[in-house]
Amino acid sequence: MFATLALSVAAITLLLVSGTQFAMTGFSVARASKRARTSRSREMYQLRQAAQVARLKSELHSVANGSEMQWRVMEVAQVIQESDDCRSFYLVDPYGQALPDFRPGQYLMVRPAIAGAFQTTRCYSLSAAPDPRYWRITVKRQELPAGVTESKRGGGLSIWLHDTIRSGDCLLIGGPGGAFYLPAENRKPLVLLAAGVGITPMASMLRWSLEKTPGRPVTLFYQAKDTTRWPLGENVHRWQASFPHCQVRTFFSRLDSADLQLLKDEYSGDFSSGRIDLDSVANVDHASDSDFYMCGPDAWMESMREGLVAAGIQPDRIHWESFGGVGSQPSSKPAGEHSAVAVRFAHSDVEVEWTDPEQSLWELARASQVEIPSGCLSGVCGGCRVKLLSGQVEYDRKISIELSEDECLTCVGRPTCAVTLDV
Ligand SMILES: Cc1cc2nc3c(=O)[nH]c(=O)nc-3n(C[C@H](O)[C@H](O)[C@H](O)COP(=O)(O)OP(=O)(O)OC[C@H]3O[C@@H](n4cnc5c(N)ncnc54)[C@H](O)[C@@H]3O)c2cc1C
Ligand code: FES
Repeated sequence: MFATLALSVAAITLLLVSGTQFAMTGFSVARASKRARTSRSREMYQLRQAAQVARLKSELHSVANGSEMQWRVMEVAQVIQESDDCRSFYLVDPYGQALPDFRPGQYLMVRPAIAGAFQTTRCYSLSAAPDPRYWRITVKRQELPAGVTESKRGGGLSIWLHDTIRSGDCLLIGGPGGAFYLPAENRKPLVLLAAGVGITPMASMLRWSLEKTPGRPVTLFYQAKDTTRWPLGENVHRWQASFPHCQVRTFFSRLDSADLQLLKDEYSGDFSSGRIDLDSVANVDHASDSDFYMCGPDAWMESMREGLVAAGIQPDRIHWESFGGVGSQPSSKPAGEHSAVAVRFAHSDVEVEWTDPEQSLWELARASQVEIPSGCLSGVCGGCRVKLLSGQVEYDRKISIELSEDECLTCVGRPTCAVTLDV
């Protein structure tokens, strides 16, 4: 088994080194030479790796139980610092198996799987085009606000990934999944809009479109602060040089004209200071035939969408992905008025009272040591969906997930009367 693992890891390394899309050579060589240093250290590495994979595989059963997503153990093959606050994690199958296909725009669910600890799961968009050799996610480090010591959502996963995860580590990965993607049959001109780390699904869509439909016009508008917060920016601008129908335009909100000139000298594409202006987007070549995909802060997407619709773009041509987050979609109506409601988590045999209108059912479960899987915690991904055995639940925002009558989304749900959940 160890021999198989060593061969598989070596095969993955070779495959990745031969890839042209990303510069992985430094990592692969360093890693290969490190492993080859002595047969003893190689043996130790293999032992540790096999033990880690075996332990995580044993966790898979509890994670996968009841989940619609497929979960697997994946090895982090490489970690790349993309910008001051963003890192890419390249994920491979630890045994060198080819990875399933996904649709550009979809996300993975990531879970640390620390034995015995309460689990946090978060969604991360795949940031590279579909490739059976590896998947890539690019994670922005989300600091807590000054003075706050504990995340409201028991999360901190992005900080944990940045501070803890190195090449050779394994993670539990769910998916790929999600309804925000570029359909394979879509051949229309594309306009992609990204702000900040919202570049991740857009980079996957752009690369996939360039590889599969190089003749289709595609324009990417990318809003960034400055070059230190410009994840994947160099990649997407370099692609333009090889694809004449691709246009990449970055807008920097804080960059002086000397730095802009340096970028113009070094990369293909357009660079401007300030904000993406709606006129340029709405008047891009082929705008009336184009499909628009966007990802960035919710308020930014909302204003872009309103502006595009006002400029005559059909609303059904505009698609967007929300990354959610605390307070990103404020309640549209006050939470339930009940002061105390009985909530029963049937499977865990726990009964508690819900008294805080600010608290979601997911948060109540967590506070009661009842684990409900999660992803976005914003009503976007469906990761916290559970069966509602009795009672009724209301939501503090509009949700786009389709639920059957006996299901509820716990992360944005509050009970309106006594409820029993099958968890
Ligand atoms: C479909 C989808 C795709 C996504 N893709 C990506 C991606 O490609 N890259 C990426 O980086 N992220 C992505 N996200 C976001 C990601 O899932 C996480 O939400 C993000 O990494 C933050 O998780 P966390 O556990 O680190 O932070 P959390 O602990 O959940 O905190 C989230 C935010 O809330 C703030 N916060 C927490 N507690 C408090 C408090 N008490 N008071 C005030 N503020 C507080 C934090 O400062 C932080 O900014 C995606 C989300 C979705 C739904
Ligand atoms: S965790 Fe994503 S919808 Fe609830």
